Amino acid sequence: MNWDAGRFTPPARLAVIGDPIAHSRSPQMHNPALRACGIEAQYIRVQVPVGHVAQAFRQFAACGFLGVNITIPHKFEALDAVDVLDPLARQLGAVNTLAIRDGKLHGYNSDGPGFLRSVKEAFGAEVKNLRVLILGAGGGAGRAVAVQCALEGCPQLVLANRTAAKAEALAAEVSKLSPRTKVKVIAWTDEAVVAEMVGTDLLVNATSLGMKPGDAKLLPAETVAARHLCFDMVYRADGETPLLADAKAAGARTVDGLTLLLHQGAISFEHWFGRPAPLEAMRAGLRDAVMA
Ligand SMILES: NC(=O)c1ccc[n+]([C@@H]2O[C@H](COP(=O)([O-])OP(=O)(O)OC[C@H]3O[C@@H](n4cnc5c(N)ncnc54)[C@H](OP(=O)(O)O)[C@@H]3O)[C@@H](O)[C@H]2O)c1
Repeated sequence: MNWDAGRFTPPARLAVIGDPIAHSRSPQMHNPALRACGIEAQYIRVQVPVGHVAQAFRQFAACGFLGVNITIPHKFEALDAVDVLDPLARQLGAVNTLAIRDGKLHGYNSDGPGFLRSVKEAFGAEVKNLRVLILGAGGGAGRAVAVQCALEGCPQLVLANRTAAKAEALAAEVSKLSPRTKVKVIAWTDEAVVAEMVGTDLLVNATSLGMKPGDAKLLPAETVAARHLCFDMVYRADGETPLLADAKAAGARTVDGLTLLLHQGAISFEHWFGRPAPLEAMRAGLRDAVMA
């Protein structure tokens, strides 16, 4: 592993792991939070190869770390690398936050709860009242959102994925979570998605499409209407994703993945320090990092 905890001032006590990891903006969000709270600690990036997550966790604990964020591709491997798994993380099927207390490794997932807070902040809405359509119900992000929506008891949850079998498997699982939630899978064709939007309140992009300039369009431009809420889990440093640009042009309300990054980070901070996160310091740090 590529790190040396001793060379940091203030000392490194928190980290984000992934592979690759150089792109992560989590340090620019968490270091201002630590400073704002007068906590003498630093948050660093550590590249960890696949298959080495448990070993990395033990090393962090031995070096006096308080916690770790876990990003792609380690969120699933981390499930089996903790001593105590939070029930929500078990249900969401991934760990993105590790808190180290008295030498014990506690695993949490802040993506699902961060999604709920983001919807509340951006739209003033509660997921439990929304009919939700998720595009990309095959990856970890789509799964976390789908399970969280069902746990909230949203009235309708529609799943679409390029590889349909993955959406079918997820639907079978989430339909057991809430008697109130009607769960169905649709084919990912323009026609099927456009037709489904008539009965949808909140559209979520949980695919990785839209991250890079030149990515194929997710949907035809006219799919989203003014009355829709549009949540793109992706964010771009160089402007809006094509989905959000189209949705805004249609008059819809939108939110991007940066808001999710902020709120999931705030929840991680709460797990580590047992106090509310300084949200505005984190938001300003993220905004600066994205503008840089
Ligand atoms: N803002 C945040 O804090 C936050 C948190 C979590 C995730 N995310 C973002 O959410 C996205 C998904 O993350 P993940 O962890 O779920 O990734 P993942 O596990 O690799 O899943 C990728 C998903 O995207 C779909 N997909 C990929 N390329 C596609 C294409 N060309 N056309 C249609 N569908 C395609 C996949 O479909 P198949 O199943 O058919 O392969 C799958 O459903 C990423 O952009 C990630 O950065 C953001």
